[in-house]
Amino acid sequence: MKIAIIGGGYVGLVSGACFAEFGVSVDVYEADPAKRAMLLEGRIPIYEPGLDRLVADNAAAGRLAFPDSLEAGITGAEAIFIAVGTPARRGDGHADLTYVFAAVEQVVMALDHPAIIVTKSTVPVGTGRKIAELAQRLRPELGIEVASNPEFLREGSAIPDFMRPDRVIVGTDSERAREVLRRLYRPLYLIETPIVFTGLETAELIKYAANGFLAMKITFINEMADLCEQVGADVNDVARGIGLDGRIGRKFLHAGPGFGGSCFPKDTLALMRIAEEAGAPSRLIQSVVSVNDSRKEKMAARVIAACGGSVAGKRIAILGLSFKPETDDLREAPSIPLIHGLLADGAEVAAFDPVAMDGAKALLPERVIFAADAPAALAGADALVLVTEWNEFRSLAPARLGQIMRGRVVIDLRNVFDPEAMRQAGFAYYGIGRKQPPTATNSLMV
Ligand SMILES: NC(=O)c1ccc[n+]([C@@H]2O[C@H](COP(=O)([O-])OP(=O)(O)OC[C@H]3O[C@@H](n4cnc5c(N)ncnc54)[C@H](O)[C@@H]3O)[C@@H](O)[C@H]2O)c1
Repeated sequence: MKIAIIGGGYVGLVSGACFAEFGVSVDVYEADPAKRAMLLEGRIPIYEPGLDRLVADNAAAGRLAFPDSLEAGITGAEAIFIAVGTPARRGDGHADLTYVFAAVEQVVMALDHPAIIVTKSTVPVGTGRKIAELAQRLRPELGIEVASNPEFLREGSAIPDFMRPDRVIVGTDSERAREVLRRLYRPLYLIETPIVFTGLETAELIKYAANGFLAMKITFINEMADLCEQVGADVNDVARGIGLDGRIGRKFLHAGPGFGGSCFPKDTLALMRIAEEAGAPSRLIQSVVSVNDSRKEKMAARVIAACGGSVAGKRIAILGLSFKPETDDLREAPSIPLIHGLLADGAEVAAFDPVAMDGAKALLPERVIFAADAPAALAGADALVLVTEWNEFRSLAPARLGQIMRGRVVIDLRNVFDPEAMRQAGFAYYGIGRKQPPTATNSLMV
């Protein structure tokens, strides 16, 4: 079986490599010549654990290729997956479908056989139907069929997520498309992965509903964290206390600086617009979007307050820039507005991230100091702000921090440090949704 994937980003590349691992012959066509050149040289344009190996092995086995043209890629492909970006459209928050329709049109015009076009990109309800109409209008003789197969992988654990998903969703009206996708996903069927067949619109909505729900869960615990700070409760314990209830579940109950990334921010915004336009507005999702936006905006003020009301002339060490650990993705990362806010108040910012430094340099002003490692960022710092919970930061011992930092303030936006150990080492420790030091003004020892 041969398939093609259009778009070699996080989803396209991971899906392509994993389908190849299933034994399918896969061509991943990436339009960006620089990324394509990297892929041809065996280099991976993104950071995703295990992906370099999976790509190399499958390329060497002759199952995975990166053709120079879309036309070459789709030759003989039974299914063509669209995995291009669907960012939020500037101004109104609708999903921008420019890349999707450009790719579909190119595919439809180049096809010489009746393939299935499958959207793996997250697309608004109704998009699959429009793709089918476009294909029918442009190439009525071919009998192209359309399916929606939304992707649920998480950056950082994308390969295990793809190889052992909780479920696979396939939305289509076409029996032929169902048969092709059933064959493609047979290795997952054999390990008893539920494969849920639905109509096109339902599959499209399932993806938004899933992301909307998870974003709501995070936002809920973030609001509880604010409440915990006011009433002297501990949000980690609240999360555990409610998460042990099987009806609630423990995942996505980690309080933090607000969700970011390439999916939740744009997908909640798009879901809000989809619901409004359909005449069934979602007040829950509207609240999630606005609560999360304002939370991210408020993080700089939180750090400034912990530093005594001003960070002017102070050196602030930022640990972690990517929106979550194990990825270099900086899309909508809380670190970016935070650093802008601190710079605007006059701080000197020294930042370190294990893999996202190059990307961050393009998004932040030149005066940000990009340190070679965590100790270099912390050297002489008045305060430490932990933004992304990379494992290597968890092991930073308070005594060691005391040796290299100038000040004694730790602002832990992910609750990874032990508050008591920090206090014993003389630090004013500010977690999220945890008991805060009595005053915010006496905490800098300069
Ligand atoms: N990143 C995730 O964790 C994730 C998870 C689930 C679903 N999704 C969805 O998958 C889609 C892709 O997301 P992503 O993070 O992989 O995006 P991405 O930006 O990393 O990758 C998209 C790639 O498509 C390429 N491209 C654009 N137009 C093209 C064309 N006509 N032909 C060939 N290549 C083209 C781009 O150059 C880019 O490399 C989005 O709709 C997203 O919402 C993403």
